[in-house]
Amino acid sequence: MSSTRETMVDPLKTWKFLVWPTITIKPIGSYFFLLKTILASFLVASISLSLYFAFSSQPQWLPSPNCNNPVIISDHQKFTTKNISSQAYERTDLSHIQFGIGGSAKTWNERRRYCELWWRPNVTRGFVWLDEKPPNDEKLPPTSPPYKISQDTSRFKYTSWYGSRSAVRIARIVKESFELGLDNVRWFVMGDDDTVFFLENLVTVLNKYDHNQMYYIGGNSESVEQDVIHSYTMAYGGGGFAISYPLAAELVKVLDGCIDRYASFYGSDQKIQGCMSEIGIPVTKELGFHQVDIRGNPYGLLAAHPLAPLVSLHHLDYIQSIFPGRTQIYSIKKLLSAYEKDPSRALQHSFCYDLKRNWSVSVSWGYTVQLYPSLVTAKKLETAFLTFKSWRSWNDEPFTFNTRPVGQDPCERPVIYFLDRTERVTGDRTLTTYIRYVDGSETECDKPDYAPTLAVQFFHVSSARLNPAIWRMAPRRQCCEVINGGDGEDNLIQVKIRGCKRFESVTPL
Ligand SMILES: *[C@@H]1O[C@H](CO)[C@@H](O)[C@H](O)[C@H]1NC(C)=O
Ligand SMILES: *[C@@H]1O[C@H](CO)[C@@H](O)[C@H](O)[C@H]1NC(C)=O
Ligand SMILES: *[C@@H]1O[C@H](CO)[C@@H](O)[C@H](O)[C@H]1NC(C)=O
Repeated sequence: MSSTRETMVDPLKTWKFLVWPTITIKPIGSYFFLLKTILASFLVASISLSLYFAFSSQPQWLPSPNCNNPVIISDHQKFTTKNISSQAYERTDLSHIQFGIGGSAKTWNERRRYCELWWRPNVTRGFVWLDEKPPNDEKLPPTSPPYKISQDTSRFKYTSWYGSRSAVRIARIVKESFELGLDNVRWFVMGDDDTVFFLENLVTVLNKYDHNQMYYIGGNSESVEQDVIHSYTMAYGGGGFAISYPLAAELVKVLDGCIDRYASFYGSDQKIQGCMSEIGIPVTKELGFHQVDIRGNPYGLLAAHPLAPLVSLHHLDYIQSIFPGRTQIYSIKKLLSAYEKDPSRALQHSFCYDLKRNWSVSVSWGYTVQLYPSLVTAKKLETAFLTFKSWRSWNDEPFTFNTRPVGQDPCERPVIYFLDRTERVTGDRTLTTYIRYVDGSETECDKPDYAPTLAVQFFHVSSARLNPAIWRMAPRRQCCEVINGGDGEDNLIQVKIRGCKRFESVTPL
C-alpha cells in the first residue's frame, strides 16, 4: 500500500501535547502545484517521485456479481418504519457484512496488528487481499482475518506516474469479493490493512440505509489539498467505505473497464468512484469514517468528533499516538475499552458550565476532558484544536472543518485530562474516569484564577448507555451537569451526562 513507503513516526518520542513540535520533514505540497508547469520535465519527475510516495489517498475496492444470488430479494417492504419490532427482526447485523481489506504480503505481518484489534474470528466475514502468499503464513494467528491472493492485474493500464500499480489490484478487491458469492451479504465494506473499524457503530450506520437500494457510503479526506487532488466526490479507502449488494452487482460489471478508463487516477478508491460516477451513484457521506489524512498530534481531531457514531480510524502509524506517552496499539486498545462499554457514545461531546465557579467543562467521552477557568462558548468548545498538520504539505490549513489555534500562552489553554478507566456501574450506566495530563516540558499557567483548576486531578463522568436508535433521529448533542460544584473534594469533579431538557442549552448567563 502506498503509505508503507512513508516515514514512520515514533509515537513515544514525538508526542507533544498542545504545542506543536518542530517539523523536520520538508513540505511536499509545493511540489504538487509546480507539477502543471513541469509536467514535461522528466528530470524533475525523478526527484519528485520519491516525494510523492508520501502522498496517499488510500486505495480501494469493489466486488463482482453473482446474478443468482438470492440476497437481492427485498425484505424492505415487509416492515414499515413505525414497526420497531419487525424492523429489529430485519436489522442488518455483522453477519451481513463482507469485509475486503487491502493488504500486501510484505507488510501484512506488521499491519495485521491493527486488524486484530477489531476482527472477530468466526464472526466477521471477509478477507484481507494480498499480492502473494505471505512469508510464514502457517504462523499467522487465527485472530487475523484470513487472506486471499488477488488475481493477476498485469493486463490493466496504470499511468499515474507518482502512484503504485497496486491500486489496480486493490480496486478489484470488491469484484473478487463479490465473485466469491458468499450467502446473505448485504454490504461490502472495504478498508486498508491499517484501518480500525468500530463494528457496532458500522452496523448502526449501515442500518440507517436500505441495503436493497444502491448505496455508496463513506467519507472525504480531512485535508482539503487531498480532496482537491483526488476528489471530493469519493469515499476515501483508508477511512473505509460500504457498498450495498445491488450496487456491487452493477459495479462489478463495469469495474474492469473503469480501471482502464481511469488509468491515470492515483488511488483504487478514485478508480472506484470513476465507476460510481458512470453508474450515477454519489457518495453518501457519513461523518464517522475517518481517513485521518493529518500529520502530527490527532488530539484536536478526536476531541472534537462530529455528532455521528465513530466508525473508523486510519493512518495510525503516521500520526502521534492518541494517548500521550503510550504506543499506538496500547492507545487504540484503551479507546476500545471505553468504546465497548458504550459504542454509540465513543468520542461524543458534551459541554457544561459550573456556574458556581464560572468554569467550563468539555467531555469527549471515552477519551479526554478539558477544563477551562472561564465560561467558554459552545461554539468555541465544539471547534477542533489545531494540534495537527495537513497530510501532504504539512500545512496549518485548510481542513474540511474549522479549527482553533492552540495558544502559546499556557493561560489560554484548558487543563487536559485523559481517560483512565471505564466501569459499568449498574445496568446500563457507565462511569469513565479521567486523570490530569501534565506535560513535564511545559510551563503551567501561574495566574491565580487558574490555580483552582490546576488543582483538579480527576474527572468522574457518569452516563447511561446511549441507545444506537438515537442515530436514526435528528441529531442533538447531549447535555451534562457538574455534580459537585465547588464543595467537597477540590481535586475531583463529577459530571453527569444526560439527554438535554426542553429549552436547555449551553448558554452562559
Ligand atoms: C410488527 O411486526 C411484527 C413482526 O413481523 C408483527 O407481528 C406485528 O403485527 C407488526 N405490528 C404492526 C403494528 O404492524
Ligand atoms: C472458528 O471456527 C473453526 C471451525 O469451525 C474452529 O476450529 C475455530 O476454533 C474457531 N475459532 C475461534 C476463535 O472460535
Ligand atoms: C460569574 O460570572 C458572572 C457574569 O460574568 C459574574 O456576575 C459572577 O460574579 C461570576 N461568578 C464568579 C463566582 O466568579
